[in-house]
Amino acid sequence: MKKLALIGCGLIGNYHLEHFLDFDDIEVVGFCDLIAERAESFAKRVPDAKAYTDFRRMFDETEPDMLFIGIPPDQHGEIEFEAIRRRIPFFVEKPLALDLDLARRINAAVEEAGLITACGFQVRYSSLVEPNRRFIRENEVVFIDCLRMGGIPGAPWWTDKARSGGQIVEQTIHQFDIIRYLFDEPVEVFTYGTRGFVKGVPGYDTDDLTTTVVRFRGGALGTLSTGCYATGGDAVDNKLTFSARDCRAELRILTDLRLVGTAAAGAARRDGGEGDGDGSDEGGGEGGSGGLVVKGDGAMYASGDGGVLLRETNKAGILCDRTFIDAVISGDGSKIRSPYADALKSLEFTLACNRSMETGQPVKLNLG
Ligand SMILES: NC(=O)c1ccc[n+]([C@@H]2O[C@H](COP(=O)([O-])OP(=O)(O)OC[C@H]3O[C@@H](n4cnc5c(N)ncnc54)[C@H](O)[C@@H]3O)[C@@H](O)[C@H]2O)c1
Repeated sequence: MKKLALIGCGLIGNYHLEHFLDFDDIEVVGFCDLIAERAESFAKRVPDAKAYTDFRRMFDETEPDMLFIGIPPDQHGEIEFEAIRRRIPFFVEKPLALDLDLARRINAAVEEAGLITACGFQVRYSSLVEPNRRFIRENEVVFIDCLRMGGIPGAPWWTDKARSGGQIVEQTIHQFDIIRYLFDEPVEVFTYGTRGFVKGVPGYDTDDLTTTVVRFRGGALGTLSTGCYATGGDAVDNKLTFSARDCRAELRILTDLRLVGTAAAGAARRDGGEGDGDGSDEGGGEGGSGGLVVKGDGAMYASGDGGVLLRETNKAGILCDRTFIDAVISGDGSKIRSPYADALKSLEFTLACNRSMETGQPVKLNLG
């Protein structure tokens, strides 16, 4: 049986551990955290697993066949280089690092060692990926709009941009990544950030809100906005809209995909989506119960098609972990949807936004 070790026994470490506890074809041998009690509390949940505060000692004593890394964004480097030196395949949480040059050096070492790697972009494993891709294939997307408005996550390092990278890099990178995966590569970004709206949070030193304009390789444009100023649920919003001439797809990552517009919704309905119009609106007449479309005169009209709602059914987070573990067991990494080399491009996309904010200039990207 292959042996697995985990470094970083915090929030995301616990999420992965919950998955491991359901897998009976791997042996979880070690947990490492700088805070000994955290590693110990994880080790208590797995028979024969040991707790460590020194990852090298854990590697020496447990000789893992694979590694999960769930540490804060500014802590990367040493662990990855040591895993590569020992040829231990690793799954690493996003963002890969805060320093692009460091992530590039890790990537070069991974490629040289021919190591299997994966990054925690679990959204790529959702059941919504295929219908969303089909929508994009069948409808020419002109504009992408992304909103991710929420509050401040609990991790102590989060509110310090120097440690977290800021919200785009640490959190909304999921949306930036899925846009790349589903749609197109960005070629240029321009980002504004603002502060001063979040009040009374000790040690707070990051952007409250950012808005990024993106130009994509194929000519489409996007606006990607993300904020952490919300203090009540009613201020929270999370939606990625792919807008085409006569229809649109609204993706709430890991939750649902709503297709609005008769043709797009019709295709999804045939594939088993849930209609949430009144069923009589299939002809696309005005006055239906659904979303809005702009007609030729520029005015807003109800689409007449309430759209079709598809729900995520894959348990994407489990599938993401499982795909990496299966790859290590079989030695075939081809099913991994986010190897280190690709996750590096999403990091570059988000770090370009930070650079644009710092310089007040657009930043060009060449991600291939
Ligand atoms: N894929 C996702 O959806 C998802 C969700 C949450 C967090 N994350 C990512 O996971 C990472 C960790 O986030 P979190 O919320 O679990 O943070 P956390 O603070 O809850 O946990 C991190 C843990 O790592 C430990 N740690 C710090 N430096 C270490 C080091 N050098 N060696 C060993 N242990 C170390 C800390 O003591 C802590 O217990 C972040 O990069 C975050 O972006 C991903």
